[in-house]
Amino acid sequence: MRKTKRLSREELAPYQLDVPAEWTMAGQPLAPVSWATLFGNAQPVELEVGFGKGLFLTNSGIARPDTNFFGIEIVRKYQLYATERIALRQLPNVKTCCADAKRILREVVAPGSVAVVHVFFPDPWWKTAHKKRLLFTPDFAALVLQVLKPGGILHFVTDVQGYFEMVTELLHHTPAFRPITAPEENAPVHDMDYLTNFERKFRQEGRPIYRSRYTKV
Ligand SMILES: C[S@@+](CC[C@H](N)C(=O)[O-])C[C@H]1O[C@@H](n2cnc3c(N)ncnc32)[C@H](O)[C@@H]1O
Repeated sequence: MRKTKRLSREELAPYQLDVPAEWTMAGQPLAPVSWATLFGNAQPVELEVGFGKGLFLTNSGIARPDTNFFGIEIVRKYQLYATERIALRQLPNVKTCCADAKRILREVVAPGSVAVVHVFFPDPWWKTAHKKRLLFTPDFAALVLQVLKPGGILHFVTDVQGYFEMVTELLHHTPAFRPITAPEENAPVHDMDYLTNFERKFRQEGRPIYRSRYTKV
């Protein structure tokens, strides 16, 4: 992984919600977040679950300053990498945290407070023994519904046909989600002009990509 300039804890602080390690390990309660307090404004909030190196958060934060973006990433080194890039660009409308997204959605995000939830290229966990780590379960779909506003959008993208079919089937049986048209991505004009890092890799390899969007009715 390419290194970014190392920033101090103080320099990163404005761009992240601090989730203490004890919370993750011992199940300590964390106070529910007020978006207005965290971002200092009442702009709509979009969440990205599992943002990896943070290309979507960085590009979106620059392109859409009138929207707030909150990213949740379970691996600390990725969360730090992305947050440093966000801090270097001084994007006040982008914040991240390092934690399990399911706990953040369940315990920290206020119900009905989010405009869009983005889930891009979640790990497929091919081995049967690892299937319990799959992110997109019925429990996760229920949490997404809980945090979305009425009319809010779930945006899901994957390169794994079986994962796509499983999520399509699951949401087909969730009447509160209605499928809507998922726009195709434009042809990229430069190397950073992709939805995410995984999208860039898979598009450059010529692999098919499956995209869907649902609205909460
Ligand atoms: C295959 S990577 C895709 C990264 C990025 N979305 C992209 O498209 O480039 C999946 C990411 O989801 C993160 N992840 C997996 N389970 C998670 C969870 N429960 N909560 C938050 N992040 C999670 C992983 O650490 C990893 O960074």
